[in-house]
Amino acid sequence: MATVRLDNVRKVYDNGKVAVAGADFTVADGELLVLVGPSGCGKTTLLRAIAGLESISAGSIRIDGRVVNDLAPRERDIAMVFQNYALYPHMTVAENLAFGLKLRGLPRAEIAGRVAEAARMLGLSELLDARPRRLSGGQRQRVALGRALVREPKVFLLDEPLSNLDAKLRAAMRVEIARLHQRLAATMIYVTHDQVEAMTLGQRIVVLNDGEIQQIDTPMRLYDEPANLFVAGFLGSPAMNFFRGRLRAEPAWRLETDCGSLPLDDAADPSVRLGTCRDREVVLGLRPEHLQLVAGDAPASFAKFDATLEVVEPVGNEIFLNLRFGNVPMVARIAPRALPASGTHARLQFDPWRLHVFDAGSGERIEGVRFHPRAATAR
Ligand SMILES: Nc1ncnc2c1ncn2[C@@H]1O[C@H](COP(=O)(O)OP(=O)(O)OP(=O)(O)O)[C@@H](O)[C@H]1O
Ligand SMILES: [Mg+2]
Repeated sequence: MATVRLDNVRKVYDNGKVAVAGADFTVADGELLVLVGPSGCGKTTLLRAIAGLESISAGSIRIDGRVVNDLAPRERDIAMVFQNYALYPHMTVAENLAFGLKLRGLPRAEIAGRVAEAARMLGLSELLDARPRRLSGGQRQRVALGRALVREPKVFLLDEPLSNLDAKLRAAMRVEIARLHQRLAATMIYVTHDQVEAMTLGQRIVVLNDGEIQQIDTPMRLYDEPANLFVAGFLGSPAMNFFRGRLRAEPAWRLETDCGSLPLDDAADPSVRLGTCRDREVVLGLRPEHLQLVAGDAPASFAKFDATLEVVEPVGNEIFLNLRFGNVPMVARIAPRALPASGTHARLQFDPWRLHVFDAGSGERIEGVRFHPRAATAR
């Protein structure tokens, strides 16, 4: 197995499109690293560059310490599962699995052994004589994975390997891939645009937008401390709520927005922590699970405000409330219960400590700013 190290990797296509604007990161030996971002952000380009299928315009790529910039794909000892994989329709599963190894001229017995082992791991042993058209989507997907597996490469590169599957099968295959990764202890780079897949599979996640790396961290750190508005809005479903406005300290701390003022703390004075943000134009972020309907025993330190309840979405184990504060749409995620009718006012509360604070101009997280004195003392 191997490490993969990227130093300032850039890819500019012939038409001038900057697809990757300088990627710097190292994938540790045995790590499952996820590249995530919206369509067109450069994920496939970056993966193909690592595989050697795409030349790079600047920077260097190392596999196990060796610069591979000028090595052909087959000399890099990687196996890639493509976004639009295709199995050979006229070959059986066994032949599909064996094909790459045959091309390399491996001995017959060695090929048979590897094919049997991969089939066993992926639950394909019973299907080795079947042709692809007889297989379900999930089974075909496993054959595509198997073709990479039999290569026993130093590094696995997976480009949206589950994108052709329905939701249930995706969830099942996600677990299969996580298991496979644990069993093989293989170095894997996994590309997806699905933030749930990224969060559940990745040991670390690289968030890309428009060719630029936004943040690299563990799933929970990305969720708890997003570096900027893009990451904050991209990870999490329903997405984080945002309130844009100016922070005022007098007579009490609040956010002054276009549609009224949002109280920030009605019980304790947060000026110790917020001093640097006084009168600053900011965007406050609040996750849907941190926005609650006011109940009888509301903590005094929670900030409270009114919003219009527009649409209620029950999803079984929880309820999404779609609300509006002036012209700002918001979502609250609450436990099932009896609710006020749509179109009525709802009294909401939140723990100001839960707020994320971003600079309104740059969109960057403002570090060290917390709203509640508890952050300064009890933590
Ligand atoms: N051969 C090419 N020539 C010019 N531009 C290209 C080429 N291939 C891709 N691009 C552009 O580079 C950008 C990144 O493309 P890429 O395929 O890497 O995105 P992606 O993140 O994999 O997207 P998706 O999630 O849709 O697969 C896109 O804007 C795309 O249009
Ligand atoms: Mg792609």
